[in-house]
Amino acid sequence: MNVAEVLATVASTLDVHGIPDHRLEAELLVGYVLGVSRARLYASLDEAVTDKQLQALDELVPLRVERRPLAYLLGHREFYSLDLLVSPAVMVPRPETETLVDRALQWAQAQGGRPLVVADVGTGSGAIAVTIALRFPSARVLAVDVSLQALSVAIANARRHGVAQRVSFVAGDLLEAVVGPLDLVLANLPYIPDADLDDLQAEVRVYEPRIALAGGRDGLDIIRRLLAQAGRVVRPGGLLLLEISPVQREAVLQEAAGAFPGAQIELVKDLGGWERVLAVQLSS
Ligand SMILES: C[S@@+](CC[C@H](N)C(=O)[O-])C[C@H]1O[C@@H](n2cnc3c(N)ncnc32)[C@H](O)[C@@H]1O
Repeated sequence: MNVAEVLATVASTLDVHGIPDHRLEAELLVGYVLGVSRARLYASLDEAVTDKQLQALDELVPLRVERRPLAYLLGHREFYSLDLLVSPAVMVPRPETETLVDRALQWAQAQGGRPLVVADVGTGSGAIAVTIALRFPSARVLAVDVSLQALSVAIANARRHGVAQRVSFVAGDLLEAVVGPLDLVLANLPYIPDADLDDLQAEVRVYEPRIALAGGRDGLDIIRRLLAQAGRVVRPGGLLLLEISPVQREAVLQEAAGAFPGAQIELVKDLGGWERVLAVQLSS
């Protein structure tokens, strides 16, 4: 078989099994096995695919049909234009989280170039921590996670992008092991109510780590605890940015107002117009 035939076969198999974007995913899977980019794939449509490559696809495609996330099969995912390694130990970074990073960078830029200490709590793959460290060479970043397996992925990503010297990795429960003072706290913590977990699509429900998803009865257990801890370590004038689910906006505003009575609190919308980030600006 040549590349064009293999692409058509893989795309059709994914389509039959209801995988959205089956053509794009076929290109990514075939490109991965052949070790070429999508652009290069299209320049080699007439070339023969070896038996070994076909065998690799025979093993890989059924895994995707079983709904294993594509990013776990490929071993990486793009976030904020960075190529990040991912494994089943970490949640696959989502485009929604780029809203939090945008706002963090905006705020950091307005701080007049002074060195900042930033914590990314629940770092997972290190998506937020590595992006901030790369964009802010004067920042020192603490990347915290309760999962050691997740931290090892975050460390690999920090090394891959050359920022490992400026990122400290902390194994711990939220900010408990962090001394401070911090200028900026960033967190995309689990916020799905336990009762909603069974309704998630299979890719998430079956394959992504539960510890990255489950937020307790109303989804806010972990965010609430972070808000309670943050006052101890964030310096006056500091900022907290937490990713939330838009349906939690009222509850989250109330929690933040209770934890930080004097702070300026707002919700930041994502590109789709959904309230996606809670911003708590402490007074100086
Ligand atoms: C929703 S994932 C986000 C991962 C990454 N920040 C991102 O945006 O792609 C949440 C992460 O929080 C971590 N986590 C859950 N509970 C935690 C806790 N109590 N303390 C620290 N990290 C926690 C999980 O292990 C997981 O890596």
